[in-house]
Amino acid sequence: MAALGVGLLTLLPVCARRSPVLRPIHRLLSRPGTVAADVRREEQSSGSVETGSEDQTPKKRFSEVQKERREQAQRTVLIHCPSKISEKKFLKYLSQHGPIHNHFFYESFGLYAVVEFCQKESVASLQSVTRTPGLGTEAAIPFRSRCFSLKLRSPSGQPSEPARVPCNSQSPPSSKKLFELLCYAESIDDQLDTLLKASQLTEENTRLRYLTCSLIEDVAGAYFPDCAVRPFGSSVNSFGKLGCDLDMFLDLDEIGKFSAHKTSGNFLMEFQVKNVPSERIATQKILSVIGECLDQFGPGCVGVQKILNARCPLVRFSHQASGFQCDLTTNNRIALKSSELLYIYGALDSRVRALVFSVRCWARAHSLTSSIPGAWITNFSLTMMVIFFLQRRSPPILPTLDYLENLADAEDKCIIEGHNCTFIRDLNRIKPSENTETLELLLKEFFEYFGNFAFNKNSINIRQGREQNKPESSPLHIQNPFETSLNISKNVTQSQLQKFVDLARESAWILHQQDKDRPSPSGNQPWGLATLLLPSVTNSLSLAKKKRKKPASERIKNLLESIKSSGAEGPTDTNGKRTVSTQA
Ligand code: GTP
Ligand code: MG
Repeated sequence: MAALGVGLLTLLPVCARRSPVLRPIHRLLSRPGTVAADVRREEQSSGSVETGSEDQTPKKRFSEVQKERREQAQRTVLIHCPSKISEKKFLKYLSQHGPIHNHFFYESFGLYAVVEFCQKESVASLQSVTRTPGLGTEAAIPFRSRCFSLKLRSPSGQPSEPARVPCNSQSPPSSKKLFELLCYAESIDDQLDTLLKASQLTEENTRLRYLTCSLIEDVAGAYFPDCAVRPFGSSVNSFGKLGCDLDMFLDLDEIGKFSAHKTSGNFLMEFQVKNVPSERIATQKILSVIGECLDQFGPGCVGVQKILNARCPLVRFSHQASGFQCDLTTNNRIALKSSELLYIYGALDSRVRALVFSVRCWARAHSLTSSIPGAWITNFSLTMMVIFFLQRRSPPILPTLDYLENLADAEDKCIIEGHNCTFIRDLNRIKPSENTETLELLLKEFFEYFGNFAFNKNSINIRQGREQNKPESSPLHIQNPFETSLNISKNVTQSQLQKFVDLARESAWILHQQDKDRPSPSGNQPWGLATLLLPSVTNSLSLAKKKRKKPASERIKNLLESIKSSGAEGPTDTNGKRTVSTQA
């Protein structure tokens, strides 16, 4: 995960220069090369296009998207190019193997091109004229993949200075750029929308993710010809941010299914196989072998780690050519189903993704989440919290999982390892919400809701969409929607939860102050969402916390309550900025 929002304080003087003339984002959009121009380019991102959430086009089912993308990836190759290359000549050269449907360039340890042919046969044709390099003193492992290196036979054959090909960015905007964008936005709603558009996966990045899975599938396919490597998690659930990891699932379930019904008569033919004592051991053995293959001859696969004793065994590696940090698991069908469920929630209402992105960014900026596993809240848990909160609105913005299950028909029925994973898969049959609350209100209420949530006795449960008594004593209990006896946030410690609560209260309080004294457009301070991403006063005061009579969170809670009940001025500066006087 990339670290959006980290180090924002150091940017304050630059970003605080907010001119009333330049503030509206559409004015920035007219200036090519500006941050906002980059964002406009990225507005064509996969998240909204795929789900059709921004317009009236029918929304695609998750399985349809996966199928189309997978097929697209199988017609695609990845080519490492010389740094200076004529795009026109490059395309002409490749067109010898068949028409090209799409292509783009990007940089990652050199210049790369992703080229999608119209037909799969073109890939085989290109492979048939490709040679294995002779490396002189080193030896090459002659693995024929869809990752190629294009060399210039005679550099003099190229124009002396070919124009630099336009490169597509695969990284999120820098903290500075993001902060600048937020300061220029017109309203808090606009800020949330801007953050979403600036950091969501682009169409190209999504294609690169499916291509990377497809390349790994080629390696696994050497042993298991009918296997599929499918992306899951934030790469496909519509909550992915540029720079997020690539979760892959080696799907072996399809193997043998097709041949089974072909056998007829009195005979039944079976493969001879090795038996092992449990599914888990089978998973470990398979992943161990695939991990070894990736390590030994997977082009661009580096830093391969086999983490086979984890609850969910996995192989972790970096895919250099795409720049993705990859986690490969197998036997993880429930996680794929969770991704489908989140995809549905993300597509049902355009406010969902905007809110989730902002909450995730806020959490990252305050180190509530981390790319390293530990006692922290995960992005997955935060997404569940936002969904739960939106189910609790009146009228609800999102339906409960039980409701989605009630809408399911016979085709949707899905039981995985004894767990009920049934819900309606056709998004177009789910009625939109009548709730018209703004994103600004929702963000504020989110912080208030969880700033005051009875975590000590209640559990979060998106299946029923209501608070329930906690079945166990973990500080934070978020029920796994499918394996309902499990808590997805069991790892979170009391102190991490308290940090979340403190920050939520402080953020609610800041937004309340800004409500009363909205900063004028000519103000020279960060405002709205940008303020919330600045380092917290509660945090910086936490070292001194023990010396005080009451914890900071209590004082902020009391302040918030007194502001709400009396409408009196709180002890703040006029803009409700993080000068925050949390001292009682
Ligand atoms: P990023 O932080 O952007 O990578 O979000 P993510 O949703 O991809 O999270 P992560 O990479 O940690 O996990 C990938 C997927 O695994 C999630 O989307 C879930 O479907 C599933 N998952 C993650 N953590 C848990 C957990 O604690 N319990 C269960 N049941 N599934 C989990
Ligand atoms: Mg992930």
